[in-house]
Amino acid sequence: MTHPADAALPHPVAELHLHIEGTLEPETIFELAARNAMTLPYADLADLRTRYEFTDLQSFLDLYYANMSTLRTRADFTEMTWRYLVRAHRGGVRHTEVFVDPQAHTERGIAVGDVLGGVQDALDRAAAELDVTSGIIVCVLRHLPASQALPMLDGALASGVPLLGIGLDSSEVGFPPGAFREAFDAAAAAGLHRVAHAGEEGPPAYIWEALDVLGVERIDHGVRCLEDAALVERLARDQVPLTVCPTSNVRLRVVDRMADHPLPRMLDAGLMVTVNSDDPAYFGGYVDDNYAALRHDLGMPDDALRALALNSVRASFASPDRKAELLAALGL
Ligand code: HPA
Ligand code: ZN
Repeated sequence: MTHPADAALPHPVAELHLHIEGTLEPETIFELAARNAMTLPYADLADLRTRYEFTDLQSFLDLYYANMSTLRTRADFTEMTWRYLVRAHRGGVRHTEVFVDPQAHTERGIAVGDVLGGVQDALDRAAAELDVTSGIIVCVLRHLPASQALPMLDGALASGVPLLGIGLDSSEVGFPPGAFREAFDAAAAAGLHRVAHAGEEGPPAYIWEALDVLGVERIDHGVRCLEDAALVERLARDQVPLTVCPTSNVRLRVVDRMADHPLPRMLDAGLMVTVNSDDPAYFGGYVDDNYAALRHDLGMPDDALRALALNSVRASFASPDRKAELLAALGL
């Protein structure tokens, strides 16, 4: 949804919670299926679009994994990523840290070098042509055996594509973070940043575990931290960034309505909150749309939106020079 006053949304922003496979728009799914001679289980675009009603995280993930099977070649990954970058740039994004799910592709027989290399080709082009800096965060799929996590990391490192960090995503409840310690320790030893999804549908205990067992620097989502006062105190004290995704939370029924979103309460509690799109092609909102929703549905004033943009830059893993440049552009 666009609103007339949205031209004044904060700019630049950094996007820190974005699944690149979640940027696959319905039109692109059909284009990729055609060029890869695949038959989709949908009659047409309109039929596919009727599937975008979600009841929880898993109902979304089922469609997300099904649709990404249309990604087969290195060029497919480049095309998807470039389309995201052009759209994100239009919304004010000047730094983005993109999640990639290598296991979702290697288990289909796609080479990890094609996955990560294809994404990186588009990121390189965006640095040159759009002034968008970026990095790849490879995510461990937590619904798969934990024994696969280290081989995933080793394969990604061996591909030679530069990696910014390691993350943890997919079905949350029943898959606590601690099981993935070995891979996160290895990632730290390799000089990678560490982040993890926690407290989206899962309990506050998963956030504690991500911090204390995996040693993560940021928590992805984290909205359920509000159920645990001691955890809120810890997150606020250490200013652990939370990469919150308001539209995603509404579409996956983590919260009932945008007007009920806990983001203002999180800010009131002194938490280091950022705003992100998660899977924009599925949830109907890129990062600028998420800022617009905060303005229109939660009545957040411009200075609060600007503070969130400043947080996004500060919480990013961009170089100190790049951070200074983006903060200066925000008037700091
Ligand atoms: N949560 C967990 N895993 C995911 C998500 C999410 O919101 N999006 C893509 N993979
Ligand atoms: Zn996510």
